[in-house]
Amino acid sequence: MTIYNDALSTYIQDLFVPQDQALQYIQEVTPQKGLPSINIKPEEGHFLQMLVRMCGARQAVEIGTLGGYSGTWIARGLPPEGRLITLEIEPHHAQVAREHFQLAGVADRVEVRVGDAHQSLKQITPDGPFDFVFIDAEKTGYKAYFDWAVENIRLGGVITAHNIFRKGGILETDSEDAWILATQEFNREVAADARVLTTIYPAGDGTLVSIKLSN
Ligand SMILES: C[S@@+](CC[C@H](N)C(=O)[O-])C[C@H]1O[C@@H](n2cnc3c(N)ncnc32)[C@H](O)[C@@H]1O
Repeated sequence: MTIYNDALSTYIQDLFVPQDQALQYIQEVTPQKGLPSINIKPEEGHFLQMLVRMCGARQAVEIGTLGGYSGTWIARGLPPEGRLITLEIEPHHAQVAREHFQLAGVADRVEVRVGDAHQSLKQITPDGPFDFVFIDAEKTGYKAYFDWAVENIRLGGVITAHNIFRKGGILETDSEDAWILATQEFNREVAADARVLTTIYPAGDGTLVSIKLSN
């Protein structure tokens, strides 16, 4: 069995994932600006951008902005009149992300909202329905974020959630780690949710992908 590894990651990146200077810069400098080095990988961002384009998204939501790396990939998949609302609890992260969105040329279509995403989602609900949602914040919140997303995207809209493998922890049967347990339960619940059709994109740390079928 071939297990996804750095060599395969590099292979995909070299063939299919051209990163311009802005994306490379954001990836490199985000940790130097005091933010944790936990952004998605280039091929994961490229995949998100493809999903945005495939579902013809105009209105997107991201939960967990960090330095704006994944947000840049998503925003670049939107049409010029499209909009990404990205939610971040840490003001410093939000400030760095705003600088990076400016640098990447997408500031005109990205709004960064500071606060606990559980509250921010309630505030943006009237702006829906949305077309695309990317969940990448605290893992214990994933089920609530997902339920909000199903209720607030259109039929055929796409919901994605990152770190679904928890670096392999998802396969542990005796874990006591709260984030692994939450992700295991989240995956089981989404798999049983008849409103969506779901799979996992296995590159990087695994991205769950659902398409909304019914209300
Ligand atoms: C894994 S990072 C996001 C990485 C980003 N999506 C990327 O790939 O460039 C998670 C982010 O979620 C933020 N976060 C954690 N809990 C949150 C909450 N309850 N509401 C909003 N943001 C939260 C963290 O501060 C952090 O910046």
